[in-house]
Amino acid sequence: MTAASAPQEFSLRQLLRWTWQVIRPAPWLIAAAAGADLVVTLGNQAQAQLFARVLDQIRALAGPSAAGAHPSFGLAYLLVVTVVLLPLFAFAARTISAFADSRMLEQLQLSLHDKLLRLGVEWHDRHDTATSVQLVDRIARGAQPALSMAAKYPLVQAIGLCTGSGLLSLNLGQSLKTPWEIQAIGFALLLGLPFVAWRLSNRVRASNAAVQAAETSVSAEVLNSLSLPGDIQTIGAAPQRSLRMAERLRAAAKARFMMAVNIELPNQLSQALPTLLQALFLVYAVLAVATASTIDPNAIGAIVAIYLLVPMVVNPLISLINFFTGLNAQWPMFQMFGEVLDAEPRTMDRPDASDWPANGSQVSLVGVRFSYAPGAAKILDGVDYRFEPGKLTAIVGRSGSGKSTIIRLLTRLREPTAGEIRMGDVPLGRIKLDALRRNVAIVGQKALFISDTVRANFKLADPGASDADIEAMCKKTKFWNILLDKQPSAPLDLTMSRDGEPFSGGQCRIFAVTRALLRRPAVMLLDEPTTGVNPLQLEELAAQIREACSGITTIAVEHDCDFILGLADQVCALDAGRFAQVGEPSRLAAEPGVFHDMLEARRRLAASGVQMKTEAFPAPTIGGKAIPAPMAAQAGALKIAAGSPMKSMPT
Ligand SMILES: Nc1ncnc2c1ncn2[C@@H]1O[C@H](COP(=O)(O)OP(=O)(O)O)[C@@H](O)[C@H]1O
Ligand SMILES: [Mg+2]
Repeated sequence: MTAASAPQEFSLRQLLRWTWQVIRPAPWLIAAAAGADLVVTLGNQAQAQLFARVLDQIRALAGPSAAGAHPSFGLAYLLVVTVVLLPLFAFAARTISAFADSRMLEQLQLSLHDKLLRLGVEWHDRHDTATSVQLVDRIARGAQPALSMAAKYPLVQAIGLCTGSGLLSLNLGQSLKTPWEIQAIGFALLLGLPFVAWRLSNRVRASNAAVQAAETSVSAEVLNSLSLPGDIQTIGAAPQRSLRMAERLRAAAKARFMMAVNIELPNQLSQALPTLLQALFLVYAVLAVATASTIDPNAIGAIVAIYLLVPMVVNPLISLINFFTGLNAQWPMFQMFGEVLDAEPRTMDRPDASDWPANGSQVSLVGVRFSYAPGAAKILDGVDYRFEPGKLTAIVGRSGSGKSTIIRLLTRLREPTAGEIRMGDVPLGRIKLDALRRNVAIVGQKALFISDTVRANFKLADPGASDADIEAMCKKTKFWNILLDKQPSAPLDLTMSRDGEPFSGGQCRIFAVTRALLRRPAVMLLDEPTTGVNPLQLEELAAQIREACSGITTIAVEHDCDFILGLADQVCALDAGRFAQVGEPSRLAAEPGVFHDMLEARRRLAASGVQMKTEAFPAPTIGGKAIPAPMAAQAGALKIAAGSPMKSMPT
């Protein structure tokens, strides 16, 4: 995310909130996985205790009271049963976890995807698309296991820690008669030492930063050396450069070594801790038995139980600490998708939002002002106009004059800074977004296509449209013949690419208009219909649009005034944030003003051989001489026909 806020500290509240959002659709699954994990943890502890009791019974067998069926058989039998059952429980726990994990990931990716769709252009303007893609894909896959752990792991481990400590205390107190002070010291060691390991591991982060810095300076030195290699040779700087490079490399090697040491120390400590503590407790237990005046018959079992239980208390603690340390280190990643999960679209339905009004096709702008940010340049500075219902009005203006901005305002992708847009008698902001999207169709400067069949592309606008509906609409806009040309049998099954291939620029436009009409909109908005269209197709395109949009209130914004002459019923010329001129195109063309000036400028350009639509290419010439305009247009068209990647820049 380009505009990501500064990284913040780990926050348990945020973690729990995001975790809840992800597990909400299937909390019982996580509960089942946690339950199964708990059964395994408690089962292991019970097994240790059981084993100790069996040993006691066996020892008692050697005693004087041994006679008949001894209870040790029952206990041994129970032990065997748990030994067999525990792997089965562990298998069940893993299976449930795997299922829960895959459901959670599915949910997380879908909610990120849907949220990114709902956040709209305003959010995407501020955020990098490539990062958003990574977020739904790689980052979500990396974060999900941690969120799933966060939902169950601390609870399971904490319960395991408590029961393990309880059993340990039972064995120490009852069988070995350990005074509470000694027990307290034992538990302090048990619970305190893992924290020492954790404190040590905190140094890893600092040494990691040192390695990063050292490696960056190595790269910088390589860049220094290679920026002008010739000069380095000629001024005899090579030995100096080599010396400096050697210094940097030595510093980097030292930093890496220190990091390895800093990683290994806590590593070894936390690995050795369970055995170390086991040994300590064992020594104590043996000493306690050896020095006791009377030996409890269960003492041997207690010693074995203590030996087995110590790791069961230390390990959950170590892994809990590791878990939270890992979360802390990866916190920036969680923040990235937390930002998306928490974000709300700026444009939402008001509580008093109403449906589409009956006279909604009467669109008017009332004193509309707009700038993209507070204090930024005013793009629109008081625009007043009432569009003629059922007619095609063109808004013309130079590049950057604010034409597309008006379209964004009309679709509520942006809100006016002042003034109001009305659909019939209802202000745009008071119409339910859903109703607005159904009734106002937009064909953007670059039409949206997905790499799928033609049918799937039509269904983006109307999922309920049948093949017959699509065919009827295509016939109305004359797009059907184009489709039949490409694929005579089952034309709707034709697959296309995201940039509209195999259709030409003009065909893509008609495709997009046809698709928009499938929604039977009351208002149609066209943003620069000539973008990416071969100049030779413009006349045909104008006729097709007129035919397709007849009877619908249509607002087209366009910088190509020649095209507008053949298209619009009315023209509004946008200049300095206002409609400087309004009227019929032929009248405006004849009177002095913005429209006339733009028309003239375009014709002069065309006459000089530079096609507006092919402005990315130099003016075609023959033997160094400019070709006359009509031929030049054809030459431009030939380039396009030959498959040049012609897509004129959005204006
Ligand atoms: N998202 C944005 N943030 C800030 N400025 C913008 C944004 N979009 C467009 N602008 C600026 O607003 C002005 C009008 O843009 P636009 O309406 O796209 O012009 P055009 O008439 O070419 O369609 C331009 O100066 C443009 O640079
Ligand atoms: Mg534009």
